[in-house]
Amino acid sequence: LIGLQKKSTKHERPFWVEIFFFSFNLRFLMKKKITKAIFPMGGLGTRFLPATKVIAKEMLTILDRPVIEWAVREASDAGIKEMIFVISSKKKSIIKHFERSKILEYMLKKNKKLSKLDLITAQSKLGKFSFVIQNEAKGLGHAVWCARKFVDENENFAVILPDDIIHSKIPSIKQLVDVSERTLGGSVVALEKVPMKDVSKYGVVEVSKKKSNYFFLKNIVEKPKQLEAPSNLSVVGRYILNSKIFDYLKFQKKGYGNEIQLTDALNFLVEKPGLYGIEFEGRRFDCGGKLGFLEANLFFGLNDKDINKNIRKIVKRI
Ligand code: G1P
Repeated sequence: LIGLQKKSTKHERPFWVEIFFFSFNLRFLMKKKITKAIFPMGGLGTRFLPATKVIAKEMLTILDRPVIEWAVREASDAGIKEMIFVISSKKKSIIKHFERSKILEYMLKKNKKLSKLDLITAQSKLGKFSFVIQNEAKGLGHAVWCARKFVDENENFAVILPDDIIHSKIPSIKQLVDVSERTLGGSVVALEKVPMKDVSKYGVVEVSKKKSNYFFLKNIVEKPKQLEAPSNLSVVGRYILNSKIFDYLKFQKKGYGNEIQLTDALNFLVEKPGLYGIEFEGRRFDCGGKLGFLEANLFFGLNDKDINKNIRKIVKRI
């Protein structure tokens, strides 16, 4: 430091200004990477009854993996290390899926089915897993709030709704992380244009301006009527949020449908560093309902080299 002081000339910034800029830049450089993802899974899965009477809807399979594993793989591919599950007490099988099964490993080794071993040991390597129980399904905002203890002050974290499976070149949550970094820590939601008749199923955004591939948002309305919707740009199940959101969620204010809505809390993040949206690259399947679930199974089946030809034959035959 003394060396620096001696070198500075009349035309350079004074020594103390240099130090100020240095520490200011360091703060940005040291801004924590996004390493945690919350997966809200407290819902009852009523759209899938009776299948979900005993089985968690997140354990229904798309091809050969449960829905939740697709979501966790996406997070892991995006560099996220900590997976935080918000579940009801009836959904503990989800946790088991990400634990090692010593008995199954032993059986596969004993029966020389070594090629299958990878398939069942991979899950526990996808990250560090924690869970919290949401006792009552009080809404998405409430589910996120249940995980508050896992998030540090002024930390950005991901929220992934497993119902939405997104097939893309760059993991969709990574596309949001990139916007968050470019906006120096902004909160970001994934957006998709939907037909006007469907806006009442989603959170719908009001845009103030667009810069390169992302939007500056000024308001989000939860499930508006078609005539009241500010646009047809709808929020789908991927978010990057700043921990400031808990300062709003702690009031447990009820919104649309008498539930604690995440959408209402998002409006609290519009101020600096701001709330942004990106129309992500990729194809989304709403696996929370029968049609999207079947479509996803067909799509991933057609992408599977072992069975794609037969699927085509079957579809033609039907
Ligand atoms: C939730 C959110 C909504 C969002 C949707 C995306 O609604 O409240 O804003 O558009 O997820 O899937 P839900 O589908 O839980 O009713």
